[in-house]
Amino acid sequence: VLDVAFTRADVRPADVAVVIDVLRATSTITQALAAGYRQVICCDSIERAGSMRGNGRVLAGEKDFMPVEGFDLGNSPGAFAEPRGAEVVLATTNGSPTIVAATECADEVLLGSLLNLDAVAEAVAGACEVTLVCSGTDGRLSLEDAYGAGRLVARLEGERSDAALAAECIAAYYGEPMEALNAGVDAAALRETGQEEDIAWCARESVLDVVPWVTRVEDGVAYVAR
Ligand code: MLT
Repeated sequence: VLDVAFTRADVRPADVAVVIDVLRATSTITQALAAGYRQVICCDSIERAGSMRGNGRVLAGEKDFMPVEGFDLGNSPGAFAEPRGAEVVLATTNGSPTIVAATECADEVLLGSLLNLDAVAEAVAGACEVTLVCSGTDGRLSLEDAYGAGRLVARLEGERSDAALAAECIAAYYGEPMEALNAGVDAAALRETGQEEDIAWCARESVLDVVPWVTRVEDGVAYVAR
């Protein structure tokens, strides 16, 4: 069965979980791995990320949509197009904690965004129990994550839960990805903080042939590679 969890609280156990945070965490991680970073070390808190500073590590993170003070980079995917080190340590408000949490519900955890839609669809095709985990915003549904989940459901075959059908309907409602992304509150926050170019960056579909997946998890940290 193909299921969608619109928030982290809705997640049920599955063989494979795909975490989706279109604006912007999973788009940023996909972009970083595509650019050549060896791995992205996703942390469940900013404090933990701060404690993982190290040689060759680029410290990146976001709080209230803005870069974390003292970190090297924020959470804008475009800033990861050219590697500045061997690996990234990342902490964001919703995305990175959701990735860590998803490892408790599924044996295999992959990361999806619009950027790598085709690659992820190919990777999960044929898996029995797949749950698409929308990262959401502060425990609530995010339109762009529901849209991204729906675009992925539309590419997959097999039985759907009601939530998967609902996500597919949301995706079908919008003509263009930019329309869906721009309609939500996260895009409004990015516009208000002068980061609207990130919305366009994340709205591009299937431009990166990369499937980020969690290689191991320990102490609130998920190690993600391609
Ligand atoms: C998050 O993880 O909360 C989001 O990616 C927020 C953001 O757009 O930076």
